Amino acid sequence: MQNARHAIKRRSDYQSPAYVIQHVELDIDLYPHETRVICTTQVERKSADQQPLVLDGVDLQLLSVRVNGADWTNYVEKEQTLVVDGLPDAFTLTIETQIDPANNSSLEGLYKSGDAYCTQCEAEGFRKITYFLDRPDIMAEYRVTVRGNKSAYPYLLSNGNVVAKGELDDGRHFVTWHDPFPKPCYLFALVAGDFDLLSDNFVTASGREVALELYVDKGKRERGYHALDSLKRAMAWDEQTFGLEYDLDIYMIVAVDFFNMGAMENKGLNVFNSKYVLADGQSATDDDYFHIESVIAHEYFHNWTGNRVTCRDWFQLSLKEGLTVFRDQQFSADMASPLVNRINQVNVMREHQFAEDAGPMSHPIRPDVVMEMNNFYTVTVYDKGAEVIRMLHTLLGVQGFRRGMDLYFERHDGQAVTCDDFVQAMQDANQHDLTLFKRWYSQSGTPVVRASGEYDQQARQFKLTLTQHTPATADQAEKQPLMIPVNTELLGNQGTMVQTVLSLTQAQQTFVFDNIDQAPVMSLLGNFSAPVRLYDGQNSSARQHIVMYANDPFSRWDAMQTLYGDYLHCQAGSAGEFAEPISTAGIVELQRSLLNQAMDSPALVAEMLCLPSFETLVQQAEQIDVDALFDARNALLNQLAEALEQDMLAVVQQLPAQAYDYQQNQVEQRRLRNVLWLYLGRLDQHQAALKSHYHDADNMTDCLGALRAAQEGNEQTFDQLMVAFEQRWQDDPLVLDKWFGLHASAPRKDCLSRLDLLSGHKQFSLNNPNRVRALLGSFAFYNPKGFHAKDGSGYRYLTDYLKRIDPINPQVAARLVTPLTQFRHLDSERKSLIETQLHRLLDTPNLSGDVFEKVSKALG
Ligand code: PHE
Ligand code: ZN
Repeated sequence: MQNARHAIKRRSDYQSPAYVIQHVELDIDLYPHETRVICTTQVERKSADQQPLVLDGVDLQLLSVRVNGADWTNYVEKEQTLVVDGLPDAFTLTIETQIDPANNSSLEGLYKSGDAYCTQCEAEGFRKITYFLDRPDIMAEYRVTVRGNKSAYPYLLSNGNVVAKGELDDGRHFVTWHDPFPKPCYLFALVAGDFDLLSDNFVTASGREVALELYVDKGKRERGYHALDSLKRAMAWDEQTFGLEYDLDIYMIVAVDFFNMGAMENKGLNVFNSKYVLADGQSATDDDYFHIESVIAHEYFHNWTGNRVTCRDWFQLSLKEGLTVFRDQQFSADMASPLVNRINQVNVMREHQFAEDAGPMSHPIRPDVVMEMNNFYTVTVYDKGAEVIRMLHTLLGVQGFRRGMDLYFERHDGQAVTCDDFVQAMQDANQHDLTLFKRWYSQSGTPVVRASGEYDQQARQFKLTLTQHTPATADQAEKQPLMIPVNTELLGNQGTMVQTVLSLTQAQQTFVFDNIDQAPVMSLLGNFSAPVRLYDGQNSSARQHIVMYANDPFSRWDAMQTLYGDYLHCQAGSAGEFAEPISTAGIVELQRSLLNQAMDSPALVAEMLCLPSFETLVQQAEQIDVDALFDARNALLNQLAEALEQDMLAVVQQLPAQAYDYQQNQVEQRRLRNVLWLYLGRLDQHQAALKSHYHDADNMTDCLGALRAAQEGNEQTFDQLMVAFEQRWQDDPLVLDKWFGLHASAPRKDCLSRLDLLSGHKQFSLNNPNRVRALLGSFAFYNPKGFHAKDGSGYRYLTDYLKRIDPINPQVAARLVTPLTQFRHLDSERKSLIETQLHRLLDTPNLSGDVFEKVSKALG
């Protein structure tokens, strides 16, 4: 089973390249099954010895090798390399290969997405196009000629600027592109097809005019404007915030239906999953609008953090991803509500990143050991990576952080560098010693911070003792103390007495506060100032005090989450560290007072009315009884709906009805309304009103809000509305994904037979990652009742599918296997049912390296 594909690579083995390539000329003649690629490179030997040139290549048919124009025979084709020997010190290498894009279902390299051709090269997909030194520290200038049939592919796109184009025989044409900025091959892109084109332009701060072009499927033009507007906002923001301007004369974005990830930052030619481009009020929710804006910004920000300065090797991925996620988060916070943004980010950390840390794939934000690089585009590298950058920002301040960024670009523009280089620039620009801080890059796991307070009335002194401890993880037994910024608020009867950031650097430290007139309530880790778990040992009345009086609205939300969590775990009999819970009546009264503030701060109140997700709760306890926890959550929601029916209705009735616009006030009001419907939808007497909420809606946010409420609340209503939804959207697969997802996450007894029916739907296809994620991803990640069914049927069901998906698209299979690998918090019966399925997977002939890596680690 273990073969060359399953080899591991280590960060410590990095060696600078023996040969470099500074110029690349690609000639790509597009045919569905027989695309010809001629790659001509200027190669130079860098090493002193005469070692051969080892080029990467996968699934290529080699046609010829020439050196300085003459046929070359001194080479060997191996499984995934081409080894060329006897070479001069510098030479022109020409390699001709043939590839089969129409049969490339992995969506890596050159493939067909519907009627169009497109490429995906990050991380190691360029080697599926031609033999090359496929590593990010080889940076070259590219000149690319694309040939294709003119009527089927009127647009032939690649990176940079057009330098030539013309007609060819047989109805074909060509376009030649030149990208003046040296880049690693993972940023190469090619797209060929027929599209609707939206054009615009942007004038940079220094007065250069940039053409903006957005390519979408024919007929989808009207759904492209939000993406284009988002791009302009992102361009302006990066100029204002970091002084960073766009550098080419043209910026292109293409939306495609078949894509493994969200989007890709190829130089001057981003390729997007159409899910993160297309939107109008009818078909997209407020969340969709939000995510489009943030992904568009993310890819745009990569132009500096990723493209101009790139990664030396793939272990450094967080250099570009953690930083770029942080940048897009700051952008989103500036565009809309910083608070709601922060809450969503923290939910992602607690739901998914803490789970990754606690599971078999745990790794530092800069991994040390990798088998399949595609498995390391993780919440740890991305989201925890962004949290680490955020801590630097907290530590150095807005201006200090900016100084560090400026120095980073001054030093490294045009280079492929490491995470250490980034931190060093931050350190040198601020004369701030970051030696200890660097441990965040090498240590995996979620630190546990404990707090205890001691008040001395006589001395008017409060002593706060903080300890930190990081439990061992699957990849790392020994842990050391980290530098942890702890936002601290001390609350008295009259409100906040102290607000400060403490810096915890040792295993245990005591901080002394003077002139404190009363025993304070501690409100710690405000704004989630570090990616840690906090236990402060306070009781639920202290927690209620924070809910009512903390300055930091994030802390108010967070205290409410803890109250809910302690209550639910107590009801479910979970094992773990929980405070004596608040009474049910206590929660009702808290919610009632929140409802009274709802019209003044709809965004905050909406989030505070939401219980922690089931997935977040799972991370908080051991030996979880899935059914008991699910039922406890459900029961509390029902009790709250019954107790607060009138208060909730009153708020719903006060919320104004307005024609749909994606605008902050409206977004917050819709959010509040739909959170309230999640409660009211549970009551029989409101089913007619819930249906009206669906049918009267002029926008997808409210339609989906009604559907979610029905999904949790009333089976008949749910079934009726789902039929209506399908009738309306059956010809629009992107919108229908929401419907697949709702079906797959519905806690129904006949869940698996429903999934079978859905997989036969005319819009469903195992080859399209969006469809697969909507159906099977929603089931495995968000249907705890069905997935964790006691008889193991959910685990078996997913495994059957994974065995079918893996040969089609290993990356998609490897992502979907995650819920089967994160079983630490489950009971032992479920663990063993899962193990049985993991063994079945491992025994699959020709299992991909992607799935092998995760499954073999899970089986330990
Ligand atoms: N680099 C892309 C991003 O962060 C993600 C990506 C990775 C896309 C690998 C495709 C393949 O936006
Ligand atoms: Zn990115």
